[in-house]
Amino acid sequence: MSAETEPLLSVRGLTKHFPVRQGLRVTGAVRAVDGLDFDVRPGETLGLVGESGCGKTTTGRMLVRLLEPTSGSIMFAGRDITHGGRRELRALRQDLQIIFQDPYASLNPRHTVGRIVAMPLQVNRITPPGGVKRRVQELLELVGLNPEHYNRYPHEFSGGQRQRIGIARALALKPKLIVADEPVSALDVSIQAQVINLLRDLQRDLDLAFVFIAHDLAVIRHFCHRVAVMYLGKIVEIGDRDDIYTRPQHPYTRALLSAIPDVSTLGPAGRIRLTGDVPTPLNPPSGCRFRTRCWKATDHCATEEPALTTRDDGGQLTACHYPESGPVGVPTGEPGSNERT
Ligand SMILES: Nc1ncnc2c1ncn2[C@@H]1O[C@H](COP(=O)(O)OP(=O)(O)OP(=O)(O)O)[C@@H](O)[C@H]1O
Ligand code: SF4
Ligand SMILES: [Mg+2]
Repeated sequence: MSAETEPLLSVRGLTKHFPVRQGLRVTGAVRAVDGLDFDVRPGETLGLVGESGCGKTTTGRMLVRLLEPTSGSIMFAGRDITHGGRRELRALRQDLQIIFQDPYASLNPRHTVGRIVAMPLQVNRITPPGGVKRRVQELLELVGLNPEHYNRYPHEFSGGQRQRIGIARALALKPKLIVADEPVSALDVSIQAQVINLLRDLQRDLDLAFVFIAHDLAVIRHFCHRVAVMYLGKIVEIGDRDDIYTRPQHPYTRALLSAIPDVSTLGPAGRIRLTGDVPTPLNPPSGCRFRTRCWKATDHCATEEPALTTRDDGGQLTACHYPESGPVGVPTGEPGSNERT
């Protein structure tokens, strides 16, 4: 994949503010996603990582247009899809699919697996060569399920198998990009690896692009080409996997990485424990949003928001006034007075 390849997905200034109402009056806004910029090239996997509530699902839902953006733009395959109408969206759904976190809630319990996987074909009035049933059975086989189980219901499958059904449904229209919103976090750890491996094989064999949403950096380590780390509605660091995992520059990325035992070079002693809760997106901190939990914060961090830009000699973009360097688990420089615990 060359760096010059035109992006398949290009997001600029993507923002979602949910209005907060008291009675009929709008009294504020939840700033769930606040000005994201990123690209995904054909066949590439971008990991979107951050703690609960940082805006990952909201971002994913805007990308597939299940949610209307407040502002910003989404270009997909050269088309502006930010505010497309119903007809445009139907065409879009063929190329752009989503896999949901919860394989239980996302499958209709009253429909057979055959009907669930066939649904996107029927909604789009597509009859594949050989017929719908044959195509569905091919898809079941592709995701490692028995094609003979076409007439079974979701409750007759395990959690991992149900997620495979969701994946087969997402593949039915041969999409170019799949948004996978924490597709393995509801599954047992032993099953997680199997489903991740399946997605990786599909990505390679079908030249699929992914936006892969995850809570932590452990899950996506071997799956993503590039990684974007989110905090409170913003991207704080984005870059190639190796830069993010071996030379992270943002303190928050370091804290997330130090929690992964085989990445942190210092073992439990090098773990950076973030104190305090994530602030509310109703009223995010001034300047750098991470400053209330950052051990390096200074007055400057409170007054000026750091731009997302290349820092020192790193290949990634980082939004921090005092970027880190050196191996993971070793915080460098202590500009502020906050203690690291
Ligand atoms: N429909 C909504 N109305 C108001 N606020 C919302 C709505 N949907 C999400 N939010 C808020 O937006 C913020 C981001 O939510 P989102 O679900 O995108 O986070 P997330 O990163 O996916 O979290 P998790 O890891 O728990 O799934 C949260 O503060 C959430 O409470
Ligand atoms: S050093 Fe300042 S700018 Fe950098 S992450 Fe900490 S608070 Fe934010
Ligand atoms: Mg979510």
